[in-house]
Amino acid sequence: MVVLNVNIDHVATVRQARRTDEPDPVWAAVQCELAGANGITIHLRQDRRHICDRDVRLLKETVACKLNLEMCMAGPIVRIAEQIRPDQITLVPEKRVELTTEGGLDCVRHKKRLLQVVKRMHKKGILVSTFIAPDKEQIIASAQTGCDAIELHTGMYANAKTQRAIRKRLTELERGRDLAMENKLVVHAGHGLTYRNIADVARIKGLCEFNIGHSIVARAVFVGIRQATAQMIELINKSELK
Ligand code: PXP
Repeated sequence: MVVLNVNIDHVATVRQARRTDEPDPVWAAVQCELAGANGITIHLRQDRRHICDRDVRLLKETVACKLNLEMCMAGPIVRIAEQIRPDQITLVPEKRVELTTEGGLDCVRHKKRLLQVVKRMHKKGILVSTFIAPDKEQIIASAQTGCDAIELHTGMYANAKTQRAIRKRLTELERGRDLAMENKLVVHAGHGLTYRNIADVARIKGLCEFNIGHSIVARAVFVGIRQATAQMIELINKSELK
């Protein structure tokens, strides 16, 4: 069964636009859970442009389903994860000027640091996932450093315009899934997934978890976040049955 983690960063983006106290991502998380989400995902960025330390602390206290903390491997952020102890962390690259996480993490280049972070997280009982492109080297490096899971970057799939390009990206995701599973990694997927493009990815067997943010929060402006979450869950479940 594929489960949905709702990424609620952009609820905090709206709050930060006015540096006020609403809308509160903690309220959003409650609504997502009530709609049937299996997890809540938040990215504590070094620049704190949306989610801030207070959100992470309160969400740890209030989220009853899985709390997945997206983060880079910088020392101060790793120490916060050790203190807060989310259920899972997803390691992402982070550039200060980017609009959102752009590429996947380079696990080959940062293998030494990744090994240290994985050990520190495992000591605290936290699962580790890496957000990576469906590349052989990245998958192998994630397995060799002891990660529990990988999140396959679906951005290239989401940006594909023609049927041929879409098919090519889906095949890459399927190959990535196969290699990851051979290497005993749990497989997640996310980035750029929407109500329009979720069906084809949700049909890929073996993907266990989707992290979806922007599209759900965008729809929530019109229908509310509980309904927006429920609609995405319904689409995932329907596609899986096909
Ligand atoms: N997965 C990861 C690792 C991400 O960094 C993001 C964006 O924060 C997402 C999933 C969600 O992407 P989107 O907001 O496009 O659904």
